[in-house]
Amino acid sequence: MAIAGFRLTRCLGRLSGLPAQGFRRANMSAMGATVEQFEEAKSKLSSLKKDPGNDAKLRIYALFKQATRGPCDAPKPGMLDFVNKAKWDAWNSLGSLAQEEARQRYCDLIGSLAAAEEGGSPARVAAAPATATAGGYDCLLVDTRDNITTVTFNRPAKKNAITTRMYEEIIEALGQAARDPSVITVFTGAGDYYCSGNDLSNFTKIPEGGVEQMAKDGGELLRKYVKAFIDFPKPLVALVNGPAVGISVTVMGMFELVYASESATFHTPFTQLGQSPEGCSSYTFPRIMGYGKANEMLLFNKKLTAAQACELGLVTRVFPDRSFHSEARSLLESYAKLPPDSLALSKRLIRSGEKEHLHAVNDAEVERLMERWTSEECFNAVMSFFQAKAKL
Ligand code: COA
Repeated sequence: MAIAGFRLTRCLGRLSGLPAQGFRRANMSAMGATVEQFEEAKSKLSSLKKDPGNDAKLRIYALFKQATRGPCDAPKPGMLDFVNKAKWDAWNSLGSLAQEEARQRYCDLIGSLAAAEEGGSPARVAAAPATATAGGYDCLLVDTRDNITTVTFNRPAKKNAITTRMYEEIIEALGQAARDPSVITVFTGAGDYYCSGNDLSNFTKIPEGGVEQMAKDGGELLRKYVKAFIDFPKPLVALVNGPAVGISVTVMGMFELVYASESATFHTPFTQLGQSPEGCSSYTFPRIMGYGKANEMLLFNKKLTAAQACELGLVTRVFPDRSFHSEARSLLESYAKLPPDSLALSKRLIRSGEKEHLHAVNDAEVERLMERWTSEECFNAVMSFFQAKAKL
């Protein structure tokens, strides 16, 4: 984004004036925001006083195009056409996101920008009944409606890689979801990826205490992060909209349901990076799929398709890409009407036998990783990743 700088700000400045051609009115009230809410969000956008910045404007542009025209079908602009290339990338990164979901996210985004301007709690422009909407996150979208809290990893330009800040935000969002009145909690990703795992630049920010301190801080954060999943009291669902890597995959062993679009993939390249498994996967994966198949993933870096992951039991169900969000969402809405206490207590029964053990596994995995992060094997692997990027 920095590459386009000022010019991009100017060119994206009047997104609110986008034409509404191709707007599929007939579909608008099926789910998500209604036509009226979408229109309301559009006019709210033109009344924003502050420039929300290039990243937000690109997201608004992309969601508008997706909501009104569907997946990106425009020819890719040339490398030097910076502005149009940035807009095309943003739209294209939404992949096969359903139009109704794009419309909803468009309303959510503008609602949170308007709320931020007003300095109050985010006034949701989107679908009713809105029990709560959480703003204030830099790397996540968090939204509660229809008894479902949805946490969306929201760094699509970085394939939703998890930075230190984002780990902290996810822990906070889980705490909030545990307390809010929602019945189930869902994780999904913005753009074409579900999540590309740990942001490898976390390893390049060495604090004053050196690599040992970096490993210690990282270990404590990881322990806290995984603990938040182990202790989470309500049913957890992953809506895996695209490729999932590393820690976004390993914690899935603690989810009640993993619904995947057919183009999703599952990859845990730990040994390739000189590291070792986390997220309790050293225990949950062999338990779910048996030692041999778990070893192919955790030791030998095998990437699974959604169909393969479903066959092995890591994924619960696979949906066609085009209907993924709407089909999965309507199932979740029906689940979220079930009695909340009965669901939470049943989850507790199913998981209680292994909870203590999961904490012990988490501790052991964190200890091993703290040692791995200071190893030459890990250092060399991370450096090669960034060197390869620099050469492109
Ligand atoms: N850590 C840091 N940056 C990441 C990242 C990660 N885990 N995943 C993606 N990114 C960044 C890329 O560096 C790139 O940044 P840039 O635009 O500033 O160059 C941007 O996200 C887009 O990714 P890119 O690599 O250009 O897209 P791609 O489609 O060619 O490849 C991946 C996507 C995810 C396969 C590739 O980025 C990758 O291998 N990432 C590392 C995944 C990983 O090892 N995770 C940790 C597991 S333990």
